[in-house]
Amino acid sequence: MTAPTVDRALAGAQRLRLDRLDATRLLAHHLQCRREWLLAHGDATLTPEITARYLDDCRRRADDVPLAYLIGQREFMGLELQVTPAVLVPRPETELLAQWAIEQIRAWPSGARAPRVVDLGTGSGALALAIASACPRAEVVATDVSRNALAVAQGNARRLQLPVRFAHGHWWHAVRGERFDLAVANPPYVAPGDPHLAALRHEPAEALVADDAGLAALHQVIDGARAHLSGWLLLEHGWDQAEAVRDRLVGAGCADVALRRDLQGHARCTGGRIE
Ligand SMILES: C[S@@+](CC[C@H](N)C(=O)[O-])C[C@H]1O[C@@H](n2cnc3c(N)ncnc32)[C@H](O)[C@@H]1O
Repeated sequence: MTAPTVDRALAGAQRLRLDRLDATRLLAHHLQCRREWLLAHGDATLTPEITARYLDDCRRRADDVPLAYLIGQREFMGLELQVTPAVLVPRPETELLAQWAIEQIRAWPSGARAPRVVDLGTGSGALALAIASACPRAEVVATDVSRNALAVAQGNARRLQLPVRFAHGHWWHAVRGERFDLAVANPPYVAPGDPHLAALRHEPAEALVADDAGLAALHQVIDGARAHLSGWLLLEHGWDQAEAVRDRLVGAGCADVALRRDLQGHARCTGGRIE
């Protein structure tokens, strides 16, 4: 029998129709090496155990399991976050929301007290940790209704040594009695039955799906904001939800309602200011 090599393992991944980048990232993960090493050592032999584990992961990847779950991590705003199936895999488009929040916090007057920031529905901790890392003056609180998600986010905060406080509960209820200067949220916003959900079936449904055509969670966050916020409420939403979110923000008395578009030109974040 021919000994398994790096090249043969990658050819096996190709037969499963895996993207080449995913195939090499997975193999680098199993061999604990850099991708560059693989490219220069195609004839290096692999143990049968590693080959079997690698091809097993390739099959899972071909079944739409996110690469981040298989390798256990995902980069967000330059931070290496650990992720598990308890949390949504942080998306590149969410960096748009992180950048908007960071811009606002950096504009906070230098002599003033520390700005208080909340990330509602933190998942892996992506937004809260990116903000805490970029804005060391900010006091950052991160919430989630999922205790398993909070455990992942807390682990990330510990590993990255970022001082974020965590609170459990339904949207603003998690921070009852507290007030903030800025709030971010990337709540679930996919409509039940949306055909895209099939490809997202390995991620937690409660992180993705919301009633009322995907708007229910966005509405809850907006409607509860005035009792807890004097400042910007910045929200991620679906590409076709900007108008509905803007109308709700205006209805809730927000001023300066504005939006941010992704690189494809889709409106993906909308925010407004509560005075
Ligand atoms: C789309 S994910 C976003 C995760 C993370 N903020 C990110 O951007 O990668 C939505 C998050 O909201 C949380 N969530 C869902 N319903 C919630 C609720 N009623 N109250 C608080 N958090 C909730 C989910 O557990 C999930 O972590």
